[in-house]
Amino acid sequence: MEIPMGTQGCFSKSLLLSASILVLWMLQGSQAALHIQKIPEQPQKNQDLLLSVQGVPDTFQDFNWYLGEEMYGGTRLFTYIPGIQRPQRDGSAMGQRDIVGFPNGSMVLRRAQPTDSGTYQVAITINSEWTMKAKTEVQVAGKC
Ligand SMILES: *[C@@H]1O[C@H](CO)[C@@H](O)[C@H](O)[C@H]1NC(C)=O
Repeated sequence: MEIPMGTQGCFSKSLLLSASILVLWMLQGSQAALHIQKIPEQPQKNQDLLLSVQGVPDTFQDFNWYLGEEMYGGTRLFTYIPGIQRPQRDGSAMGQRDIVGFPNGSMVLRRAQPTDSGTYQVAITINSEWTMKAKTEVQVAGKC
């Protein structure tokens, strides 16, 4: 059985279209897949808390961590630009907190205090058109 040339070309065109749609759909999916894992899940006063970000692409421009419901200069904990000499720049919400960012988008809050509880948000700038975001609720328990 022979497939006429015309039909074949049409077939590969639609296959190409399906592949492009699949790639777009996967990009959307990975955007939703950014996830913050808290280690430990329920930190106690004076414990170190790691906020480990999963699903970060291999290459990105920079990332910002915020403490609060809104993401703006006033809630920014720090900016991290991987590959430069001083990659971490603390923001106005850092205060007396001891937070260290890692090149993989994660951060550790050293000696967490109950006053550090709140909404932690991360925004990872992939390129000028695409920023991936994730948030998590942190509750630091006081000493019993
Ligand atoms: C990110 O890096 C930190 C420090 O090296 C590590 O503890 C953490 O597990 C890493 N997270 C991911 C998701 O790779």
